[in-house]
Amino acid sequence: MKKAKLSVSKDAVIAAIDKRLYGSFIEHIGRAVYGGIYQPGHPSADGDGFRKDVITLVKDLRVPIIRYPGGNFVSGYNWEDGVGPVAQRPARLDLAWRCTEPNHVGIGEFARWCGKVDAEVMMAVNLGTRGVQDALNLLEYCNHQGGSLYSDLRISHGAREPYKFKTWCLGNELDGKWQTAYKTAHEYGRLADQTARAMRMFDPSLELVACGSSSPAMATFPEWEAVVLDNCYDSVDYISLHQYFAKNKDDDTPNFLAKNMEMERFIKTVAATCDYIKAKQRGKKTMKLSFDEWNVWFHSGAALDDTMKNRPWQVAPPIVEDVYTFEDALLVGLVLISLLKNCDRVRMACLAQLVNVIAPIMTSEDGGAWAQTIYHPFMHVSNYGRGVALQPLLKSTKHDTKDFTDVNDVEAVAVWDEEHGALTVFAVNRDQNEPAGLDIDLRDFEKYLLAEHIVMTKESCEGGHVVSRADDASAATQTLPPASWNVLRFVFTDLSSLLGHENNLASMLPNFRPYGTFNF
Ligand code: AHR
Repeated sequence: MKKAKLSVSKDAVIAAIDKRLYGSFIEHIGRAVYGGIYQPGHPSADGDGFRKDVITLVKDLRVPIIRYPGGNFVSGYNWEDGVGPVAQRPARLDLAWRCTEPNHVGIGEFARWCGKVDAEVMMAVNLGTRGVQDALNLLEYCNHQGGSLYSDLRISHGAREPYKFKTWCLGNELDGKWQTAYKTAHEYGRLADQTARAMRMFDPSLELVACGSSSPAMATFPEWEAVVLDNCYDSVDYISLHQYFAKNKDDDTPNFLAKNMEMERFIKTVAATCDYIKAKQRGKKTMKLSFDEWNVWFHSGAALDDTMKNRPWQVAPPIVEDVYTFEDALLVGLVLISLLKNCDRVRMACLAQLVNVIAPIMTSEDGGAWAQTIYHPFMHVSNYGRGVALQPLLKSTKHDTKDFTDVNDVEAVAVWDEEHGALTVFAVNRDQNEPAGLDIDLRDFEKYLLAEHIVMTKESCEGGHVVSRADDASAATQTLPPASWNVLRFVFTDLSSLLGHENNLASMLPNFRPYGTFNF
């Protein structure tokens, strides 16, 4: 039996969690938009052509912000193509994904869809093939009340009220040569600074994200961050981080399940680089991090090559439709724990992506929509990970893997939602063979009782459901099955009100939302 002890205290707070940590991403790529969120004529489509089955699954994820319209796509995008009467919109060649973009969905439609799923838009401007003036035009179209060329154009398109997008990405991955019109760090840093300063002349309160490296594996990392920020430290609020995790040919499961440690190293290095520029420039503010692309991505590589090289130009071909395993879900859970452990610095993050393309939600064009394995840990953390993240004092038995040493058998973090009297521990037992005993020391959380222990194992996953387990609420040590994702929900409980209801503890607890069995 593996062993771990987690101690948490109300006084050891990492930070209040910005709900935008649970963001996601919809790009014009593959079947994310067409055949994903939007499919007029589908039996579940609403009057605007949006699939209601997808809307329901997205709403259950409680995604507060969605990045749009790319991704690589944005570096060649003309936003004007996607506004105005649909019948008059041009079809364009999207070089990023070698597809024909019909422009049936653009800013107006996407903003409407976001309203339906209760999310705000994280808008990206094209700083690949376009520049400052275009970003300003787009900003005026989206956010100005009226009485100017572009705001009146929006009104003439039926949107009387401005969209008031608050969060803007200044381009995407411009360090990568696969980008339409990539840049050097100097070129991009200066362009990002000029764009940010101009956008702030319109609205100083915008939250602006500069592009960091496309991945820590880039040869230019972390010099890219240093040079870019040396140019635009004062004018932006965030630097972005992107990282996808793959199980390479020579990886085994233990090595794969340690890969969130790589992410934590990446975060620390980017934070240190930001702090170096802050010191160099005698800056006051601390740069925030936006981890606006992350996920497991490796099941679909060959299919993408084939579409890019051998297929004719087509609208919305299936691209990078990874089918996720239980192991992938465990790593997604581990990554979410890493994001929470670093939420003082990483304020926003986007699971990339949301529908059909490396996504938790899949659709069939002539059938339904369903949740993949990775949907579940994301849904748990997005729903129950609101409040403050607590510093985890974690002692665990350890193991080494091919690339990592001192890997905790158990990884865990706790989130306290004071307003609702709820404390949630998210925990993974990485060991595939042995259960782990997790001793949870709640110190100053008197009167918090275990209300629910949600467990996801390979067996439950393959059986098509996630189970809620009845544990002994008073036991100090909880058992985490081998290779499992666990959500332990403690709720503030006035025991005197429970007398006589001991067998039905959960239903007596305030704010208890039974998870039960979830089929997918
Ligand atoms: O999410 C898929 C792609 O990955 C995005 O378009 C790009 O930004 C990244 O390389």
